[in-house]
Amino acid sequence: MCGIVGYIGKKQAYPILINGLRRLEYRGYDSAGLSIINGLLKLYKTKGKVIDLERFVRDRDISGTVGIAHTRWATHGEPNDVNAHPHYSPSGKMALVHNGIIENYNSLKKELLNRGYTFTSETDTEVLIHLIEDIKVNENIDIVKAVQMALSQVVGAYAIVLICEEEPGMLIAAKQGSPLVVGIGEDDFYIASDATPIVEYTRDVVYLNDQEIAILKPGEHIKILTVSNRIMTPYIQKLEINLGNLEKRGFPHFMLKEIYEQANSIHDSMRGRTSLQSGMIKLGGVKKYEDKLLNARRIILVACGTSWHAGLVGEYLLEFLARIPVEVEYASEFRYRQPVLYKDDIVIAISQSGETADTIAAVKLAKEKGVTVLGICNVVGSTLARITDAGSYTHAGPEIGVASTKAFTAQVTILIQMALMISMKKKTVSKERFLNLLVELNQIPAKVKKMLKANDQIREIAEKFINVKNALYLGRGVNYPIAMEGALKLKEISYIHAEGYPAAEMKHGPIALIDVEMPVVVIATQCETYEKVVSNIQEVKARKGKIIAIVTEGDTEVRKIADHVIEVPKTDELLVPLIATIPLQLLSYHIAVARGCNIDQPRNLAKSVTVE
Ligand code: F6R
Repeated sequence: MCGIVGYIGKKQAYPILINGLRRLEYRGYDSAGLSIINGLLKLYKTKGKVIDLERFVRDRDISGTVGIAHTRWATHGEPNDVNAHPHYSPSGKMALVHNGIIENYNSLKKELLNRGYTFTSETDTEVLIHLIEDIKVNENIDIVKAVQMALSQVVGAYAIVLICEEEPGMLIAAKQGSPLVVGIGEDDFYIASDATPIVEYTRDVVYLNDQEIAILKPGEHIKILTVSNRIMTPYIQKLEINLGNLEKRGFPHFMLKEIYEQANSIHDSMRGRTSLQSGMIKLGGVKKYEDKLLNARRIILVACGTSWHAGLVGEYLLEFLARIPVEVEYASEFRYRQPVLYKDDIVIAISQSGETADTIAAVKLAKEKGVTVLGICNVVGSTLARITDAGSYTHAGPEIGVASTKAFTAQVTILIQMALMISMKKKTVSKERFLNLLVELNQIPAKVKKMLKANDQIREIAEKFINVKNALYLGRGVNYPIAMEGALKLKEISYIHAEGYPAAEMKHGPIALIDVEMPVVVIATQCETYEKVVSNIQEVKARKGKIIAIVTEGDTEVRKIADHVIEVPKTDELLVPLIATIPLQLLSYHIAVARGCNIDQPRNLAKSVTVE
């Protein structure tokens, strides 16, 4: 939700800002803007994407060695030129970029209006920069003090970066709720919403904590104060991001590249954890909490969107293998419904970005109640990784496409390992079954690679369904969440309405929707309920629905009745989600491509949802 970049040093700021915005565009693409100081403060902004901003500034003066930039996902005010960031202070001498929502902006704005200020935009951000300048002028204090005083009045979430014409040698940044990373160069500083715009310039970074304000002056050390004026010692970390992962590497879209990366990313999320040789699974990150996990009264998985679907798969696996009761909660609901939590519960938060506002709030709530909170997270150093008691990184590498793909299968891989690790220690599965699963799990990357060979076949099937208005996805057991995930992928990137349902529930309502126009994607792989799913397929066929069936290789029964059949390599039925997800991702991808949709930046979405 909104991407922020800032630079101060000896280099020209513009290329750094624009490259940074390109990297952060996944966070929002409603408008883009930048502000640079070169004697005077200049500000350029426009509705549209980063490329529109580049066109907009083509013949303008963009020189200067200090600047800030922003790519927006609209919260307050429609996406237009005026509401785009940065925003000016009343004098036009300061400019501010902001990610987050200032919840009390209305009352702050009223006060400022009463004092005679006028506003050009509908944003909460313009209110904040007005407030900062108002305090600075009226209290006759320096800008850092004014920022501190203003932020102490603010309720809500923010990551802000501010520049001031009168102090061109200083960049001020602050955060509460929304993420900010400072990159420390040789004699310059970079700042961004995540580390991807920074990594090509420096690997030394400081992740700001809530309530912290960074004062960045080239030639001096980074200085961090809190809003209440405590001096903090910066904790400098080394970035470990592979730059190549931030490029498309010949693929037309990041989404397709990331779908194809899954053989590797699943492997990476097992590396050093699952060993066939020793017949063991070790999750180093949660080792300290192993006893708690083994003795947990309940495990509560909290997440949003695709990560929530991974949680649902986890529920089946943890209950089936580890015999621990599991609840899966939308983080947004969990945080407001006063959940009953016991000290021997374990909350596990799942998030690709580690910045999803609702998930972070759910974690904070659980921690306040004294519950152990573990994280399953992809982004190293993210807020989730920092506020949980312990956790396992998914190691899927940066996921740039807004629709989550490889992060999902990596999350499921961690959950499988967790369920297996607990079941091994608690002896809730036989040694033989455990070892079989371990062997099968190790073969998943190769089977995913094999699955990807069906890409052309899936594209041909997809082309037959590009004009449909609705689609139904059915699955049972551990594949029911996969049906939901398949439906979500289709909705997100092709804008076709789709629902994922447990196959047996179809006759309790959704069957009314089925007619000759309706594609029904059914996961009908070999499992305990296979025959029942076949009956559901018959029920759809009887109503002339079009069946796209995902079956185990060699299946002959479903082939007789389905309109299209996609075979997945054989594996243990508990591990099928890791493979069956792939054809559903590809199906959505090809339908969306054929419909001419923007694959990596679907309308209205942003990858990192840092507002409620
Ligand atoms: C769907 C998707 C979203 C995210 C959700 C949670 O493709 O990407 O539904 O899964 O916004 O995001 P994270 O996992 O970053 O907490």
